[in-house]
Amino acid sequence: MKKTAPIGIFDSGVGGTSIWKEIHQLLPNENTIYLADSANAPYGNRSEAEIVSLSIKNTEKLISLGCKIIVVACNTATTNAVDILRKNYEVPIIGIEPAIKPAALQTQSKSIGILATKGTLSSALFHKTSEAFTKDISVIEIVGEGLVPLIEKGALESQELKELLTNYTAPMLAANIDYLVLGCSHYPYLIPNLKKILPPTVTIIDSGEAVAKQTKKTLEKIELLSEENKQPSLQFYTNTEIDTLTFLLKAYSKNISIQQKEF
Ligand code: SIN
Repeated sequence: MKKTAPIGIFDSGVGGTSIWKEIHQLLPNENTIYLADSANAPYGNRSEAEIVSLSIKNTEKLISLGCKIIVVACNTATTNAVDILRKNYEVPIIGIEPAIKPAALQTQSKSIGILATKGTLSSALFHKTSEAFTKDISVIEIVGEGLVPLIEKGALESQELKELLTNYTAPMLAANIDYLVLGCSHYPYLIPNLKKILPPTVTIIDSGEAVAKQTKKTLEKIELLSEENKQPSLQFYTNTEIDTLTFLLKAYSKNISIQQKEF
């Protein structure tokens, strides 16, 4: 495998671009290929078997495109399929899990909120992590039903989205949370709206930076960190329309290529 081989990233749709941005910021010379499986979003309401099968399809596509490492930029796919992917493929696989540990270690009010999909909150991996770190802490778990489809449409300023966020955070505020963990890679796009709803005493955390650091550490360990010093190739493939990806990535648009493709 060459050091210039791309980092492969997949998500159920456009949300994992929040993770891609962190990776690109930390590793600006790396070539990347991002798959947005928007035709099958949201994964969060699918069965475990469906999530596993879609994760295998995406992983095999990225391997066929020559990727040196795969980042599962989707919490639902990670919590349901990462163990199977790691068993089936030799390529290193990085997953994303809700940042429960830092929230549980730092909370002063001993109450934290977690906003994630049904698929993540009901997974065995999520339960294992949550139980390990939140013994003396009250954890308010809320399913963000309806949020992913609105983000997929780019409806970030819609009234519907704002009302859902107000409803989902109300029981958390009633429970006096001081940390809100975003357990879905789509949700960092909600931060501007969440900041308008939540008091400044609530810290919002997501896992993007941790995933980028883990990706770098793994590439260093396997000696595949790129040594190139030129503009990287930044490919984005979606199996629906390109509008939302274009909107979300417009600030990075210099050498980004966004294409509609079957996969
Ligand atoms: C979804 O497709 O339902 C959300 C993706 C995620 O959990 O990060």
